[in-house]
This record gives sequence, C-alpha cells and structure tokens, in this order.
Amino acid sequence: MGNCSQPWLILLVNLFMGLSIQYSQAFSCQKMIKSAVFLSPKFVLGPGSVENKFYYNIDFPRGHKALKSFHAEIIDETGNPVPLHETYLHHWVVDRYYGRVDYHGNSDVREPDYKPVRNDGICQRDVLGQYFGLGSETRGTETYIPDPYGIEIGNPAEIPEGYEDRWMLNVHAIDTRGVEDKLGCTECRCDLYNITVDEYGQTLSPDYAGGLRCCYDHTQCRLRHGFEGASRSLYLKYTVKWVDWDSSIVPVKIYIFDVTDTWKKFDDSTGLSTEHDCQVNEYEVEPCSATNLANDECIHTKRISVTMTTGGNLIYGVAHQHSGGIGSALYREDGKAICASIPAYGNGTEAGNEAAYIVGMSTCYPQPGSVKIADGETLILESNYSSTQHHTGVMGLFYILVAEQVAKPIPHTSSLPIQMLNNMNGAGYVWTAVVWVGVLAVFLAVWNRRRNKSNVEYQPLMICCF
Ligand SMILES: *[C@@H]1O[C@H](CO)[C@@H](O)[C@H](O)[C@H]1NC(C)=O
Ligand SMILES: *[C@@H]1O[C@H](CO)[C@@H](O)[C@H](O)[C@H]1NC(C)=O
Ligand SMILES: *[C@@H]1O[C@H](CO)[C@@H](O)[C@H](O)[C@H]1NC(C)=O
Repeated sequence: MGNCSQPWLILLVNLFMGLSIQYSQAFSCQKMIKSAVFLSPKFVLGPGSVENKFYYNIDFPRGHKALKSFHAEIIDETGNPVPLHETYLHHWVVDRYYGRVDYHGNSDVREPDYKPVRNDGICQRDVLGQYFGLGSETRGTETYIPDPYGIEIGNPAEIPEGYEDRWMLNVHAIDTRGVEDKLGCTECRCDLYNITVDEYGQTLSPDYAGGLRCCYDHTQCRLRHGFEGASRSLYLKYTVKWVDWDSSIVPVKIYIFDVTDTWKKFDDSTGLSTEHDCQVNEYEVEPCSATNLANDECIHTKRISVTMTTGGNLIYGVAHQHSGGIGSALYREDGKAICASIPAYGNGTEAGNEAAYIVGMSTCYPQPGSVKIADGETLILESNYSSTQHHTGVMGLFYILVAEQVAKPIPHTSSLPIQMLNNMNGAGYVWTAVVWVGVLAVFLAVWNRRRNKSNVEYQPLMICCF
C-alpha cells in the first residue's frame, strides 16, 4: 500500500478514540483523499408540504483544501434514503461565503457580515453563485474531479482579516405522499398549490402556470381526498471529499450557464456588453400539437449563446434538467459539441431508481487539454425537453469546470483508491475489512447517539478516507 498505509492505521485509531475531528492533523499522506459525511439540520415534512430553507455556517471541512466531490441525498431519521416519489428533492445548493470568525449566530439567519464568494460563472446578481447544486438527479450523478484538479477553498491569502470560509446550504424539498398529482406538485403548478400571490406578496400573472414562486417554504400541494399521513423528520446527508492543498494541485474554475439567461452579448446602441439577467431560471414547455404527437416530433429545444471572457480547458461538465428533460449540450459556434449531458430515468420504486424521475445526469470528462475554450469564445447552450405533455418550472443549467493550465497527470497522485486496491496484498484486505467494520460500528454508534440527542443538529457522522 506504499506511502499511504500509515494514515489508514491512524484513521483506525482515530475512529476508536471517539471520532475526533482532527482529521487534518491525523493524516500524513499528502494525496490522501479525505471524506466526511454531515447532516443538515433536521426538517419536517407532512404530505403535500414544501420545505425551502437556507442554513448558514453548515458543517464543512475547514482549511486550505482542494474539493474533489460533493454528494448529497435525503434520508429519514433512521438513516434510510427516501425515494423521490415520497420526498421530491427539487434542489439543494451550496454557496460559499466569508463569515466573521467571532460570529456564532443562529444557523437559519444570514449573518450581518455575510460576504458571498461566488463561483466564476457569468450571472452577476444574487443567483447561480453556488459551488455545488443538484436536484432529483443527485444520487446518480458523478461529481468527482479527477487528479490533479480540484476546487481551491480556504486559501488564507485570500480570506479577509477576521473572516473565515463558510458555507450556506439551501434545500428545497416537496413531500408528495398522497398528493393528487405528483408531477404537478414537483413542477410547482400554481393551481395545485392554490397560489396567486408569491412569497413577497406580489400577485402572479395568470400566465404564470407554475414554478418556484408557487412552491415556496410552507406552501401545500393538494392532497387526494381523505388522505392522511404522518409528518416525518428528514435530513440532507452530504458527503464532501477533498485533499489538503499543495502546489501540485491545479485549480479549476466553476461556471454555471442558464438557458433562460436573457443577456445580450452587445447592446446595439452602445456597443457595450450588458448585464446578465439570470433571474428567470425556469421556463415552461408547451405541449406539442396532435399532429406532432402523431408524428413523434415533440421536442422542445431552447438555445442561447454564452461568452466565456476567460477560457481554459474543460475538465468536467454536467447539465441540470427536470422531469421531461431529454438532454442538454454545449456547442462551439461552428456546431461542434463540446459536452452533452443526458438524463437517466429510473424504472423502479427504490431510492435512486424511481420510475419517471431523473435519477442521474451523464457527465463529461474530456481528456484534459483536449477540449480548450478560447478567451472570449462564444458557446451555444441547448436544452431539450419532451413536449408530449405540458411542463412548468423546468430548468436548463449547465455546470462546467475549467482549468486555465493543464497538468501532466502524476502517476502517484492519480486515483488513489484504485492504486491501493492494485497494490493490496492479503494483509491489506484484512486491514481494509477491519477499517470498514470499525467505520460501520462508529457510524451506528454515532447514529444512535444522534437519535437520542435531537438537539444536536450538526455532527459529522463519519470521517474516513478512500
Ligand atoms: C385557495 O385560496 C383562497 C384564497 O387564499 C381561499 O379562499 C380558498 O379557500 C383556497 N382553496 C383551497 C381549496 O384551499
Ligand atoms: C436536441 O434536439 C435537437 C432537435 O431534435 C437535436 O438535433 C439535438 O441533437 C438535441 N440535443 C441534445 C443535446 O440531445
Ligand atoms: C430497469 O432497467 C434495467 C436496465 O435497463 C433492466 O435491467 C430492468 O429489468 C428494468 N427493471 C424494470 C422493473 O423494468
């Protein structure tokens, strides 16, 4: 197991010494991929109800690091994954910000000195600034960033004096147990929620058939007559993987494009570029005509062009679509595709394979250096939906990671888990088994403690390395 064998032992000791969170000191192997599992604060949903909460200063790895992946899903109080046909995960979003080190207020209010740290994307207003975010596809979508790339966080040279890196989590979930129309509730149809005025008291136009303005926090979707069901407690469980920062890591920038972005590349009268308006990030798909339906021609396509001021090498790409989505792609102006991301639908009932829901999005991992976006290059974003039926509140986002430099992969740093397996002998397997049994035991113990101590909202469940 080479240079990385000691950390496993240290980890084991660490685990049995009471799950110390001093993981950063505990490891010596620099390229060890570390992983921590956290729970959001608890939220409670009854049949038909909606939760859209913002949690500030959530548990997150601290220090100068390169993030490698972020995985999330909804679980219940016993730790079981909850299927989408019971609790639909409309989206979760993780934003980075600087918060004052000496501020320790309530996690459900934005702190007074909140300084957002946006991604490098092109929306300038208070939207789509997130570092991570997915929806129903979260269980089946790869977010791993290959070596030697990573998202740099916690660089002390960049953080203002008296502040630290902090993270905000937004979870929007809809309980569709017992509702009259599951798809309608997940698409936030205003009539099903009996909403005519939005959360801020603004009257909605009769043309606004559905979308987030009709399914804000504590709204209620219409239930089947006479349905009764108990409320239940849920959590967003999130797993973060990272490596400690060092100079061999090549940072990637995060860009998020939105197919509803109404920006213009140039203002005709002034010749200046104008602001992006990414406010409207949902749209409606009108049903196709009977003739089109008969001819199997019901595809709704939406396209926009986006200009990358600073380009780079594409390292990763993925789209976000809602049910009805059938694919999204980024093209160059000459029509050459640079990344396509296609939804996978489930065909069962269990969590991760729910029929009629998007349970994963395919991702792009071009060979680094093979897809280069030039500075100032204009790309075309395309989002396709099936229009065999009406859809409201759909989205067409595209998330890419771009590296300004490409590094030659260093064999030692690449894909540690595989390397370990390849190099493992009999003793290695035994150790691995012992570690996993330990992990399981600690997990169960911590879980049990959590259940008996529900006032402790934040607690890492498991810290481990892969
Ligand atoms: C819908 O909302 C209106 C106005 O807020 C209210 O008067 C009506 O009772 C509601 N209907 C149902 C079915 O809840
Ligand atoms: C979107 O639909 C158009 C028209 O049918 C098709 O040419 C294109 O390849 C589709 N794009 C994706 C990404 O599926
Ligand atoms: C679901 O799809 C998989 C793979 O396409 C297939 O093997 C399986 O039989 C399907 N299950 C059902 C219940 O249709």
